[in-house]
Amino acid sequence: MKIGIDKIGFYTPHIFVDMAKLALARNVEPEKFTIGIGQSKMAIAPITQDSVTLAANAALSIIDDEDREKIDLVIFGSESGIDHSKSGAVYVHQLLGLNPNARAVELKQACYGATAGIQMAKGHIALNPDRKALVIGTDIARYGLNTSGESTQGAGAVAMVISANPRVMELENHNVYLTNDIMDFWRPIYSDKAFVDGKFSNEQYILFFNKVWEAYKEKTGLVLSDMEAICFHLPYTKMGLKALRTVLEEAPEDVRERLLAHYEASTTYNRNVGNIYTGSLYLSLLSLLETKEIKEGSRIGMFSYGSGAVGEFFTGILQPNYREYLNISGHKRLFASRQEVSVEEYEEIFEKTLPNDGSDIDLDVSKDPAAICLSGVLDHKRHYVNKLHK
Ligand code: COA
Repeated sequence: MKIGIDKIGFYTPHIFVDMAKLALARNVEPEKFTIGIGQSKMAIAPITQDSVTLAANAALSIIDDEDREKIDLVIFGSESGIDHSKSGAVYVHQLLGLNPNARAVELKQACYGATAGIQMAKGHIALNPDRKALVIGTDIARYGLNTSGESTQGAGAVAMVISANPRVMELENHNVYLTNDIMDFWRPIYSDKAFVDGKFSNEQYILFFNKVWEAYKEKTGLVLSDMEAICFHLPYTKMGLKALRTVLEEAPEDVRERLLAHYEASTTYNRNVGNIYTGSLYLSLLSLLETKEIKEGSRIGMFSYGSGAVGEFFTGILQPNYREYLNISGHKRLFASRQEVSVEEYEEIFEKTLPNDGSDIDLDVSKDPAAICLSGVLDHKRHYVNKLHK
């Protein structure tokens, strides 16, 4: 039985800052951010968007009534969770009006959470082939103003329906995974910003990629020329390129050219959104499929990396007519409708966070065009609105 991605959609907030302008404000040459890091625009989450609303807005764009009935597993992959106890999945389940006879849980392992969710969803579908699973990677990447990580922030979510006989991509079963306890990136419970050893995390990302790629080749006998493209977890778009370059010499010239061209296509969305942590790899897949006509039946390599760290390499096969099941025009509209804010406005939005002393707050959702917004916190409980259900 084929199991894989039946639908895939994403959401990113309506405001962004231009990276060249951010560079000037930080006394850095614009090319450092646009070429050296490889980012053009950075999505910013207004106070009315959190990991729950980003996830719910992403899922809202892909699910229909049949999905609402058939989804009986909701996995919320995130490292920007809003509660130490209650999972974001339960809020999303309610906001989307899903079948009550469902499991809903949150998974955490830095940027690897959504990949873990997909692999678990595959097991669930293998046991329950007539059901569907909703897996979401949702995050707000925050390093802090004037930090070296600042240029690699972003916000957004990717939602996927995992099912039998998937219409977009069948997931193959030759996965290779690796865990090693390292401190390259982490966020202690008391901090709303990440701590990062940037250079070390870059090194470990590449090391993990090299190890899982070697093991994958040994396990499957497949090589680079068997991959039409490789999508990477993209904390910033230069990162995957650095990893890809370490293996390119294994391939003949035409395959190298193809992989580099497809790499470029797989980074377009990420370049304009920034790092969305758990969803980044899947945003890269969407970018590849929606900005380039990749042949049906192609094998796509996927490298997932979550600092701390867990890495995984796996592959998928594009299904017949898969492009019909993408939402290319919807995503074009989403990008086109975004508004630029100045660096000063971005700094103000960044500093405007929810109270952390337990006090209440009422938020104005009228300026946020998203269907699902955070409307406030009352008696220690977050309240959400779905503007489509008035
Ligand atoms: N034109 C073009 N490129 C330029 C440039 C210019 N004027 N000025 C600098 N650069 C290049 C540098 O050569 C470097 O490229 P390289 O990495 O290919 O050598 C790149 O821009 C970044 O410069 P660097 O000095 O290394 O940046 P930094 O010290 O500010 O930190 C990160 C960069 C990515 C380490 C930092 O943003 C970070 O910690 N991010 C968060 C962690 C992360 O994303 N980890 C990834 C693994 S999950």
